[in-house]
Amino acid sequence: MTVGTSRPHDSARLHVTGEARYVDDIPTPAGTLHLAFGLSQTAAGQLEGLDLDAVRAAPGVVAVLTHADLKRPADCSPSAHDEPLLCDGAVHYLGQPLFLVIADTHVNARRAARLGKAQIAETTPILTIDEALAQGSRFEEGPRIYQTGDAGTAIAAAPHRLEASFDIGGQEHFYLEGQAALVLPTEDGGAQVHSSTQHPTEIQHKVADALGVPMHAVRVETRRMGGGFGGKESQGNHLAIACAVAAEATGRPCKMRYDRDDDFLITGKRHDFRIDYTCGFDETGRILGLDFVQYTRCGWSMDLSLPVADRAMLHAGNAYHLENMRVESHRLRTNTQSATAFRGFGGPQGVIGMERVIDHVAHHLGLDPIEVRRRNFYAPDGENGAADQTTHYGQPVQGFLLHEMTDQLLASADYAQRREDVRQFNDISPVLKRGLAYAPVMFGISFTLTHLNQAGALVHVYMDGSVHLNHGGTEMGQGLNQKVAQVAAARFGIPLESVKITATDTGKVPNTSATAASSGSDLNGMAVQVACDEIRDRLSRLLAEKHQCTPAQVTFAGGKVTTPGAEYSFAEVAHLAWTERVSLSATGFYKTPDIKWDRIKGQGHPFFYYAYGCALSEVLLDTLTGEYRLTRVDILHDAGASLNPALDIGQIEGGYVQGAGWLTTEELVWDARGALRTHAPSTYKIPGFGDQPDIFNVALFDAGNRADTVYRSKAVGEPPLMLGISAFLALSDAAASCGARYPRLSAPATPEELCRAIARTRA
Ligand code: MTE
Ligand code: MOS
Repeated sequence: MTVGTSRPHDSARLHVTGEARYVDDIPTPAGTLHLAFGLSQTAAGQLEGLDLDAVRAAPGVVAVLTHADLKRPADCSPSAHDEPLLCDGAVHYLGQPLFLVIADTHVNARRAARLGKAQIAETTPILTIDEALAQGSRFEEGPRIYQTGDAGTAIAAAPHRLEASFDIGGQEHFYLEGQAALVLPTEDGGAQVHSSTQHPTEIQHKVADALGVPMHAVRVETRRMGGGFGGKESQGNHLAIACAVAAEATGRPCKMRYDRDDDFLITGKRHDFRIDYTCGFDETGRILGLDFVQYTRCGWSMDLSLPVADRAMLHAGNAYHLENMRVESHRLRTNTQSATAFRGFGGPQGVIGMERVIDHVAHHLGLDPIEVRRRNFYAPDGENGAADQTTHYGQPVQGFLLHEMTDQLLASADYAQRREDVRQFNDISPVLKRGLAYAPVMFGISFTLTHLNQAGALVHVYMDGSVHLNHGGTEMGQGLNQKVAQVAAARFGIPLESVKITATDTGKVPNTSATAASSGSDLNGMAVQVACDEIRDRLSRLLAEKHQCTPAQVTFAGGKVTTPGAEYSFAEVAHLAWTERVSLSATGFYKTPDIKWDRIKGQGHPFFYYAYGCALSEVLLDTLTGEYRLTRVDILHDAGASLNPALDIGQIEGGYVQGAGWLTTEELVWDARGALRTHAPSTYKIPGFGDQPDIFNVALFDAGNRADTVYRSKAVGEPPLMLGISAFLALSDAAASCGARYPRLSAPATPEELCRAIARTRA
């Protein structure tokens, strides 16, 4: 059976040989034009004039468009219609597109775009969380609050109490393939769009609006992305819309890709947060009451900030049963890039807030943080209380795996011995310090906007027995297509090679959700299963009639279709079905059952199930320079009954490293004018090959999903990112060994920040 076996990514060979085709590699028709935006160099103010004479006169320029030149309002927002394609007067951030250059080449468009002169009446930008709070600059009136029990009373009555504030930086997606789109105008005033997007239907919808045509006039195709990580859920809209509008204006194909610096300057990133916490607890470390205030910097437009901030609230308790818990969330509007989806979608910020609290409590009491974690975990099934334990938003927690997983991880990673080794090492080593830390994750799977939890598929079997597979999900490197192809091959009992993976296409499967919330294989795998089973049932009925048996007696395995008296190859059956005039094509549809959620009240059952994981990270820190290495990482992660262990382990390794990068070296710095100073690999450091842990052990916790998912697998795309929190906590542990006080360490723990934290620990 193909399901459950390790198969390489279907495009692995093409990726490493450079043959994999991305949007920018698609051969373009003669006459294709290239676009670039002219960007605001000012973070806030009113646009009073644009001098574009030099732009128009520049070599190769065919046309220049401003907001006034657009035939219709071209809005790029996925939510609040608050993102005009080109500045309509109000300047909201440094990097905002002011005008659009259409030229004969990419380089000519970019060169010309620099020649524009904007007259902007500058106002003082609102850049920081403090400034936004002081000015009341928000996306929602007042904070949103989710709570259970009575945190205030419980904290007041608790024997111990801690209060602190914790800053968490944002993160640039740094997909290797930047944003890109290509639009070919069609004969009926519509558009054929190639887009590097996680959300082809959204591109279709927004392009149709910008062109003033029905959605049927726009077709969007996405073969693959060179990484999306949430940064291509909504941020590709601008390029596709710009190309569509330019193609309409010129009648020629138009293409746009952002240079890396522009990509940094224009597009949104992970939301940075400040989290204030007040925690009441007893001497065993059991948390009695907990109050969080989350401040979220959303940037200039709404984008996906409200659901991102909601998810931060939902995950604010991570894996802990907190009976008196209150989370207050402030969604702040600033004159910076509009923060957007990023792997975990707010969850990681919520989780690290909680893990910081546990770490702080353990330090205060002089307990091993892992013991404090265990004391606060949800109960495993079967023990007292497990039957009615719920999260702070009212969802029952059943099948909680972290007790068992933690035992297994600590044993395989030799925790007890290494804890002792680290203590002894630090006692005799004055400059180099080791740090060791564990972090768990419990991540809710489903879109919190319930209606997005649906998917469609289209499967054709050709008369030679080969299978053409299409579904609404997009491939961004995570291996979704291969997993879904494995499902199709398993349903028909045929080799994986017989299944052809095809590009995501709004003309084949309509009304899709973004490939996001880690639910790509859950949703599309099920839709494909439904479509395959429909065709399989038709074939079974055909053979049952021919061989006088029941359809259930017809089996599909090993490339053969068998009845009690006969055996065919799958190809023979396909051919037979064709000559018997049986349809060999089917659509499939799936919607996640059992979910309901009131996001205003913060109550309900938003998630179909939870995915679990835990990690133990060890670091070596040079306390004079603040430099460090990840010396060893051990991970045990729950992917349910994995559809493809090799791909899942790849997701776990990549997720961990991306999470550790977010919390260590990846620092975004804006200056006082609101200019993003970290705008390229020269100034923004993502993990490289040399930064990977010296020892990196990743294992799957092999247990089926109790929820009825595709082959009992679990989503794996986002949850492992939060395992990177253990790297941050390990650095904090190393810093803590320098002095008596709990290290006030903000994220990211850059070498500079570690030096400051060490100084505070010693103070
Ligand atoms: N893995 C790779 N290689 N590239 C990506 O862009 N995106 C992540 C994750 N893993 C990403 C990735 C994010 S943000 C999500 S939501 C999931 O993959 C989406 O895919 P899935 O639902 O099929 O897991
Ligand atoms: Mo992932 S942040 O849900 O695209």
